[in-house]
Amino acid sequence: MKFFVDTADVSEIKDLAATGLLDGVTTNPSLIAKSGRKILDVISEICELVDGPVSAEVAATDFETMLKEGQKLSKIASNVTVKVPLTVDGLKTCKALSDDGIMVNVTLCFSANQALLAAKAGASFVSPFVGRLDDIGEDGMFLIEDIVGIYDNYPSLGTEVLAASIRHTAHVLAAAKAGAHVATIPPNVIRQLYNHPLTDKGLEAFLADWASTGQSIL
Ligand code: G3P
Repeated sequence: MKFFVDTADVSEIKDLAATGLLDGVTTNPSLIAKSGRKILDVISEICELVDGPVSAEVAATDFETMLKEGQKLSKIASNVTVKVPLTVDGLKTCKALSDDGIMVNVTLCFSANQALLAAKAGASFVSPFVGRLDDIGEDGMFLIEDIVGIYDNYPSLGTEVLAASIRHTAHVLAAAKAGAHVATIPPNVIRQLYNHPLTDKGLEAFLADWASTGQSIL
């Protein structure tokens, strides 16, 4: 499973990119607002930090303007993935942009029927929002399982399931078990993936025993 980071905070992206484990970045209008920066500037900087797909979302809701915005965003860098909402106009835009060879991430997906439409529109990625479904008492991960199962029936589909709205490490593990191609994960959750108290305890014991040998490797 590919790991994308869900943020527009360049310092967070720099830090995580240095691990060599970052496969891409997703942003959205809320994350851009949180960054306090102009979208064209921050997406350009992110695209230089990460080779993988970088999602930049359109702000319009009508096809004509979404298309113009998507074309402008795609010109920032070759790894820009234009993000569009799962609406009629969003999917029309997805079809037009993907027909032109531009990567599209269809976002705000909350049903398997919507995911079917996104695949038919030629999306590179579809983003089902797991956490927001959990927030209303539904099983967001069931949607991931459902979509993966449906897409597996049609190997010719080129759309990858990008599990989004990830809230904690259990979501990451469940998304991997469900066969999601990608999970886009908040920076703090990525860092929590590393942690286990037995690792810390075991390392402490190794270092104490090593120190008692008086040796050094270098
Ligand atoms: O950026 C897309 C998605 O991951 C955002 O989810 O629910 O944390 O705003 P959320």
